[in-house]
Amino acid sequence: MVWLQLRIVIGYGSLFGMETFSQRTSWSRGLTELESARVARVRSGAPVWDLTCANPTRQGFTYGREALASFLGVAEAYAPCALGLPEARAAVAAYICGQGGQVDASQVWIGSGTSELYWHAMTILCDPGACWLVPQPGYPLFDYVADLAGVRLARYPLAWDGAWYLQADALEQAVGASGARALVIISPHNPTGHVWTAAEREMVVDCCRRHQMALVVDEVFLDYPVDASASEPSVAGCEEVLTICLSGASKVAAFPQGKVAWGAVAGPGAEEFLGRAELVSDTYLHASTVIQAGLPALLKAAPAMQARVRARCRENLACARRRLAGTAVSVCGVPAGWSMLLRVPDTMDDIGWALRALQAEGVLVHPGYLFGMESVHSSPFLGVSLLLEASAFAEGIERLARLVEEGADAQVLEGGT
Ligand SMILES: Cc1ncc(COP(=O)(O)O)c(C=O)c1O
Repeated sequence: MVWLQLRIVIGYGSLFGMETFSQRTSWSRGLTELESARVARVRSGAPVWDLTCANPTRQGFTYGREALASFLGVAEAYAPCALGLPEARAAVAAYICGQGGQVDASQVWIGSGTSELYWHAMTILCDPGACWLVPQPGYPLFDYVADLAGVRLARYPLAWDGAWYLQADALEQAVGASGARALVIISPHNPTGHVWTAAEREMVVDCCRRHQMALVVDEVFLDYPVDASASEPSVAGCEEVLTICLSGASKVAAFPQGKVAWGAVAGPGAEEFLGRAELVSDTYLHASTVIQAGLPALLKAAPAMQARVRARCRENLACARRRLAGTAVSVCGVPAGWSMLLRVPDTMDDIGWALRALQAEGVLVHPGYLFGMESVHSSPFLGVSLLLEASAFAEGIERLARLVEEGADAQVLEGGT
């Protein structure tokens, strides 16, 4: 009997040993030090001011039952369309034209998330091992998608000199060294809020043309200029290079539960790209027809929601600027988007600051390394969401400011002055 059990254990061991699994999904799944500390704090019953929450539905941005019902279109018969329902594609094209882009419904394809459409684009453009160039710092989105698509990532820097900007030399160097097949621009960029200028756009399009790279532009935050000057038109419809513009309802309508997103394709190779996208989409038919049928209503309701979100972001940003003025913390930029980067004194690294903020003041912030900050900028940065309900945001910022001020006082005492 014992022998039989042993055989079963050995059998399962070799059947489900690590060699059974792929390298591409061998990601570390353990809790980070910060997450472990958060869990411990919550278990102890101590309060947490979560300044990382970027889920609009948890911060009061909801539509109400009546509007929600209008976002769902239920048809008796299932009539899937791989690139998206015609009415959904037409509504997206009209929406993009309202943002200053120039596309029609035939250039649009629909999916269940911008992240999913990145994966579509990677598999359509690249064989395994090919490279995509993505910005650093950046929201941690690409590594998993690229692993799943078998694509290698290289980074180009977003530079900071009091404002964020693209450096032509550094971009050229990264393109040359990587041999990338596609270049990703995120504008407005998460988490820096950088919005590419017309000159940067011209430089990037020229770079893509010379190196025969596709241009992939993530415009999910386009409707959220925090400073009014950061309002740039959509690049969708750019004919100079193969241009794939991605966006989706999770940001455009502050409606992540909709699970609907879109891409707009233009330029040389657009027809071939869309032909392949149709087959990729047809393989899974991920995007629900229920939500696609409601997309025209959702996009109609989106601008009012965006106005509420922009007002919240502006209010919170003004609060942070006011409270942190004259302290050793600086707010870095934020022309657009839902987040804010804070530069803190280099008396500790970013994870040290994040742990200290949580343990001493109960404030949860993102350490900058999460966005790939540490390798491009020597000062520690912390990431904070601007979506928070205003009084919780103000309390969190107050606590952060106190932490830094107390740290500065302690240094003065240690220095004996
Ligand atoms: C810049 C950017 N693009 C895309 C996404 C993912 O969007 P989706 O919810 O449509 O997958 C995010 C998520 O926060 C993001 O910050």
